[in-house]
Amino acid sequence: MIMENHLITEIQRLKKEKNAIILAHYYVNDELQALADYVGDSFYLAKVAKGTDADVVVFCGVSFMGESAKMLNPEKTVLMPDLTADCPMAHMAQVERIKELREKYDDLAVVCYINSTAELKRYSDVCVTSSNAVKIVKALPNQNIFFIPDVNLGRFVAEQVPEKNVILNDGYCPIHKEIRPEGVRMQKEKYPDALVMAHPECEESVLKLADYIGSTADMIAFAKESECKEFIVCTEEGVNYRLKADNPEKKFYFGGEYLCRDMKLNTLEKVLHVLATGENEMTLPKEVCEQAVKPLERMLVLGK
Ligand code: 13P
Ligand code: SF4
Repeated sequence: MIMENHLITEIQRLKKEKNAIILAHYYVNDELQALADYVGDSFYLAKVAKGTDADVVVFCGVSFMGESAKMLNPEKTVLMPDLTADCPMAHMAQVERIKELREKYDDLAVVCYINSTAELKRYSDVCVTSSNAVKIVKALPNQNIFFIPDVNLGRFVAEQVPEKNVILNDGYCPIHKEIRPEGVRMQKEKYPDALVMAHPECEESVLKLADYIGSTADMIAFAKESECKEFIVCTEEGVNYRLKADNPEKKFYFGGEYLCRDMKLNTLEKVLHVLATGENEMTLPKEVCEQAVKPLERMLVLGK
């Protein structure tokens, strides 16, 4: 604890000296969520990254988040506590398949979940996050949609927007895939009064059991507003920090240890290290940046 306090004091001092801010996703370790200036879901963090006056952004998340922050704010320095923290799903789509479908459908819109590499964004028409995907797909004039990379969020969107032809890709989040319907059913038997909240990255069989489906921030808001006192939570367990802090009198059950190894690579020590040294800067080739930022900018307009 003394060591931790020392790290935090030093981080705060360096933050002032360098005019830096710390952004953190809800899946990172509790101490980083407590330290960060802004904590949120992917959409919120992209908006903060776009609007900040700080010179330096330390992004406690995974590489697609740092890349997005850099593209939206190319003149800022974006530092990643651990440059190897990556989202496996971000790579689970092929440019060749996009080209193939563009040949087949004249009006195709490639809708790219923000959990994707900058390279995939370059070939996409608009980005979405789990909190704005339905709204944005509905707003597009296109009838044919290729949703990449997440099959589960894509299917969820397709169900909400039945008037469009949504073509699915086969990417997935390995952490949400571990959440099984049998486990959720067991939890429901054990806690019959609890409501089930699930992230749309969960498989269809899990989403069918959910009372509420939404992004991390949406689930946190739902739990706070609900009169219910118990919740079965189907997502990465980092959200438990905010859920408990906001609702000390409510109970939250996770059916297992659902940990995103990459998000957990972020630590206080690494935040201090990058602030002190300026190492681990997120960089992208100018050409990639200029092309990949377009679908992100469009998301910020359509998702408003
Ligand atoms: P949201 O916080 O936008 O719901 O995203 C979840 C996620 O998997 C981030 O990697
Ligand atoms: Fe990627 Fe899943 Fe980790 Fe989110 S929780 S960063 S989707 S691997």
